[in-house]
Amino acid sequence: MAGEYIRSILATGGAGFIGSNFVRHVAAGDYERVVVLDKLTYAGNTANLAGVLDDPHVTFVQGDICDSELVFDLTQDVDAIVNFAAETHVDRSLLNAGEFIQTDVYGVYVLLEAVRRNALRRFVHVSTDEVYGHVPEGKSRENDPLDPRNPYSASKAGGELMIRSYCTSHGVPAIITRGSNTYGPYQYPEKVLPISITNVLQGQPIHIYGDGQQVRDWLHVQDHVEGIEFVLRHGLVGEAYNIGGGNERRNVEIARSVLRELDAPDDLLHFVTDRQGHDRRYALDTAKISELGWSPRVGLDDGLRETVRWYRENQQWWGPIRESEDYQQYFAQNYGGREVLKVGQW
Ligand code: NAD
Ligand code: TYD
Repeated sequence: MAGEYIRSILATGGAGFIGSNFVRHVAAGDYERVVVLDKLTYAGNTANLAGVLDDPHVTFVQGDICDSELVFDLTQDVDAIVNFAAETHVDRSLLNAGEFIQTDVYGVYVLLEAVRRNALRRFVHVSTDEVYGHVPEGKSRENDPLDPRNPYSASKAGGELMIRSYCTSHGVPAIITRGSNTYGPYQYPEKVLPISITNVLQGQPIHIYGDGQQVRDWLHVQDHVEGIEFVLRHGLVGEAYNIGGGNERRNVEIARSVLRELDAPDDLLHFVTDRQGHDRRYALDTAKISELGWSPRVGLDDGLRETVRWYRENQQWWGPIRESEDYQQYFAQNYGGREVLKVGQW
């Protein structure tokens, strides 16, 4: 079993939302060394690693996964890469796709070359359920065709195809995980849950795109990082594994839960101009990972309540982000031009 001889990990993108939760999780385990490589883009933040940066087993390096010399050096003496580094927000990919192609496709190629040349034992690549595209009925299985429909999911699918090619052509020991919509502490306030919670905490409305009937499957970040570590230790090389929470909800239901938790009125629900190419539904069949022995543990109601509480208690983390120039500019660009179609219940 690979897990027994994976003692050291390079966690790329480890200062982002899921990456930092992963680093905190594995730092509490019995690995000898965890190296974090992160470019610290607008989404990366060393504050996400509070409490682990001074752990003697953890090293932080600021840098780009597209920098092949740096990546080659850092992978000379680690057993595995777990790759979280990516441009990750669909709305930003609609405004400017260039960085997505650079990091999510070219960056993956750079990592693959390093895995190959330094003969690493594992490369776990963190991908997304969005690569399957809109799923009108049923659930996506790992062998279903990829059908990405926005620049973010297309670049993630591009990265996956590079991995597939390196597995086949060069025997690179890679495994792909496809996680569903993840939520929890330290998520940058641009994805729907943290932006909605922090908007309401500042007395602003929740912006629901279109009719709010789009469906996502919600996965708590602790479950997601445990699922990724499980795949690192027990997954089979050359395979992909869906990691889902088993919690399909319409966006409007998620928004209502936020309002309920914060005791805020329904007229803070603003239905606005829809996202371009908005996928109506994602849904994952998770039989493959559950047959291997892993399933999620956090219930959505508990997870949401705890997440809302975390944001309420950690304004010192998200306040400066929301005040930053980059954030203000993005917020104005993405939300400024949207028409309010309806207020309150749809
Ligand atoms: P995030 O945007 O919070 O963090 C991304 C991190 O990558 C940031 O710390 C950023 O600084 C870093 N980064 C970006 N470009 C880099 C580069 N070129 N070199 C080095 N570091 C770079 O993202 P997240 O939500 O934590 O997502 C992590 C991974 O999980 C991504 O690959 C994403 O596609 C995938 N994923 C996310 C979700 C979700 O709901 N958030 C669901 C499924 C899969
Ligand atoms: P998001 O968090 O951006 O994740 P993804 O696009 O990866 O699923 O969006 C989740 C859902 O919420 C998606 O259907 C788009 C919708 N959404 C809104 O309705 N309003 C918002 O302000 C945002 C950011 C998203």
